[in-house]
Amino acid sequence: MKINNNNIFPVQEKNLEKISIVFSIIYILWSVLILFLLVQNIYSIKSATLEIARTFGRESFRKDLLYRRWNSMLGSVYGEICETNSPNPYLITDEKNIITPHGLKLTKINPAYMTRQVHELGLLDSNIVGHITSLNPIRPQNKADDWEVSALKKFESGQSEVAEITKTESHNVFRYMAPLYVEKSCLNCHGRQGYQTGQVRGGISISYSIALFDSYRKAATLRTFFSFSAIWLIGGLGLLYGHSRTMKLVKKYNDLSNRIISNEKQYRTLFENMVSGCMVLSSKGSDFIIKAINRQALSIENMDNQDLVGKSVKVIINEQVDKDLLISMEMVDSSGDDLTIPEIYFDNGHVAGWRKYQFFKLKTGELVVVYMDVSEEYKKEMNLNILKQAVEQSTSLIGITDKNGNLSYVNSTFLATTEYTWDELVGKNTRILKSGEQPHEFYKNLWKTITDGETWSGEFHNKTKSGKLYWEAANISPIFDK
Ligand code: HEC
Repeated sequence: MKINNNNIFPVQEKNLEKISIVFSIIYILWSVLILFLLVQNIYSIKSATLEIARTFGRESFRKDLLYRRWNSMLGSVYGEICETNSPNPYLITDEKNIITPHGLKLTKINPAYMTRQVHELGLLDSNIVGHITSLNPIRPQNKADDWEVSALKKFESGQSEVAEITKTESHNVFRYMAPLYVEKSCLNCHGRQGYQTGQVRGGISISYSIALFDSYRKAATLRTFFSFSAIWLIGGLGLLYGHSRTMKLVKKYNDLSNRIISNEKQYRTLFENMVSGCMVLSSKGSDFIIKAINRQALSIENMDNQDLVGKSVKVIINEQVDKDLLISMEMVDSSGDDLTIPEIYFDNGHVAGWRKYQFFKLKTGELVVVYMDVSEEYKKEMNLNILKQAVEQSTSLIGITDKNGNLSYVNSTFLATTEYTWDELVGKNTRILKSGEQPHEFYKNLWKTITDGETWSGEFHNKTKSGKLYWEAANISPIFDK
């Protein structure tokens, strides 16, 4: 029989293992995710570093271009001839070298010459190397190296810039290069080489050590690494805590469910072995559904459990005949107060008899009905009552004593004749009635007859409370325990 409808089971050992496995899988997935994000971040730091390096090269080139444009815009830029500014042997032009009225010797500085001079100056205070070059150089020293040749070829096929990390023996170098296109102003000097505007005349390459940006990259990478490690660690600790917490909760749950199960077993044993019939009902609208019924109740109802659990109580209680019971149940259910019916005649067409009912409501809302069939007791009591009345109303004196002669019952005729009250006689010895007129042997003989199991017949000469003497004929029989 089921009393508890909730299926409570403790978590099994193998399922505990499963919980641990799930936690381990989450931990692995977490670690993979963190590792993936870390690698991704380190890559983006690296590409950001390269972007900074490229921007640096682009800016440097743009400045060169600007100064060159300024130079060719002016048409002729002159500088005093000195050690670092000797006349350019490759420049073929009018008024290449001039002398001012005051005797200052000047030479014309073409844009490429200027760029070279600036690049040489730059080399003195930084590690940035600039180089103006062409696939078809006027000045042989301006010849392009292998990397520059490939970059220039790319420009001719339309690419606008090339930026790359290249390796030398000692360190990594970042190289940036962009093209110089032939403009109208260039044709004065380069026109004779057959160039037309828009063509790639050459380019300027800039090389600088990647170490310039590496410190930024390293610091950012390290910071990212530590941040992700911390996140990974916190997540891991969280999972570990979650796991131990879950295990504790499961253990608690197991303890509790084991307790509930053993409680339920105890309750069932108690329920099944009650001497009274017992039903647990739950109210449903104006009806009551049987949730549980014990063996004793089934035997009282002369029914089988299979037929009853889950059904309306009206299967047992006849709605017309046993209406009072249903009303009592409704009362207890709505008020919550206990109710006892000491005697009620029950008849549902299947079984009938006198019954004793007790109703009470559980905190959980169910109604409990405890009852007994008291038909037998009822019958006995009825018989006893009749007998008692017969004895009581008899005109003979009737008394009952124990084997020592102590009175335990006397009828009203006994009281009336002896003039004593009930309290004055019951519990007292029959000696109280002796007149003293009869010899000791008389009584000895009486007791002997009784203790031998025989009935004694004779006449007593007794005395009332007020001292009146009277004769009485008596039959005294022993009563034996069954
Ligand atoms: C005043 C004359 C003059 C003008 C204008 C001029 N160049 Fe030049 N350029 C030269 C001479 C001379 C050289 C070669 C020697 C040197 O390095 O100075 C040269 C060299 C170069 C080089 C280096 C490769 C090589 O041939 O040695 C490039 C590239 C170049 N010029 C591009 C240009 C462009 C582009 C323009 C127009 C914006 C331009 N030049 C305008 C005279 C000129």
